[in-house]
Amino acid sequence: MDIKEQLDTVTAVIDSVDVRPKDAASCECYRVLWFGKDGLFRRLFSELKSLDNDERIRVAQLINDVKSRAEHELASIARTVGNEELLRELKLTHVDVTLPGAGPAMGRSHPISLIEDEIKAVLRQFGFRTVDGPEVEEEYYCFDALNIPVHHPARDLQDTFYTDTEQVLRTHTTSVQARELEKGKLPVKIAVSGRVYRNESVDATHSDMFHQYEGLWVEEGITLPHLITLLTQVAKALYGRNRKVRFVPKFYPYTEPSVGLLISDSRGDGWVTVGGAGMVHRKVFEEFKFDPKKISGLAFGLGTSRLVSERFGIPNMRALYANDLRVLDRLV
Ligand code: DAH
Repeated sequence: MDIKEQLDTVTAVIDSVDVRPKDAASCECYRVLWFGKDGLFRRLFSELKSLDNDERIRVAQLINDVKSRAEHELASIARTVGNEELLRELKLTHVDVTLPGAGPAMGRSHPISLIEDEIKAVLRQFGFRTVDGPEVEEEYYCFDALNIPVHHPARDLQDTFYTDTEQVLRTHTTSVQARELEKGKLPVKIAVSGRVYRNESVDATHSDMFHQYEGLWVEEGITLPHLITLLTQVAKALYGRNRKVRFVPKFYPYTEPSVGLLISDSRGDGWVTVGGAGMVHRKVFEEFKFDPKKISGLAFGLGTSRLVSERFGIPNMRALYANDLRVLDRLV
């Protein structure tokens, strides 16, 4: 067999579904056969001597091409059959200087953190300050202070995780609004992001833990147009100019009037609700001894998890919380 024919047999083995090595043992056989001390490629290179100059360069190139393809293929088969040994051997016989170095795996932000950072950047331009609040919350801040009466379904055992009779895992970040108003200082212009908990059965679009992004702006002269402008800016910053934004009437006990925020979906044939908002309810101001005739405020709560799903096209919200890096890596 001349050199060309011998190279063809190597290519045939790699390309043929039938004879291509399928387990560690046959990978090892081919490694010895081709790349071993008395292996095929060594022999072929030594045969080059007999060729004249031009021919030698051409054939050497040919051998090299087939050799690196064969190495590559064997390595990838070996990787799938988990033959560490073979991988090590192959690395010894072949150094590919074009491969990137083995640097440390770099961590990066979770999609939820990415979106949170983007929202924060917009709100900061409007002068919002970021604050935090407890996840195990007193019922008072989560409900009573926000004009959510005792019989309201949000307080039901079915919907809420109680840790004891007066403590709950916060069902929304709106509780932090109450904590901030309680301080009695104006103006209030705060943003809060974090986890909230609901006693829900988990499915593709529901989770018993998810993320919200909350805002509250209280001072003299705040009006509904401020709210509409602000939320439109946030939505456009996250999704670009082409996504449409829409507000619909809603009911929340702590705002009056209340609105739902919707954005047009990525295909442009439907709407997705991404948050609730409104003008702070008179009763909430009165609870904290503010005069609703003198001041007003806007409030909003965005579903961060929903915003993320919509942004990265994740149909199943569970993907965000399973922490499977193979999935998360594909998203961003
Ligand atoms: N707390 C609401 C929820 O969890 C969202 C919300 C609606 C927050 C209106 C607000 C608001 O601050 O004004 O669904």
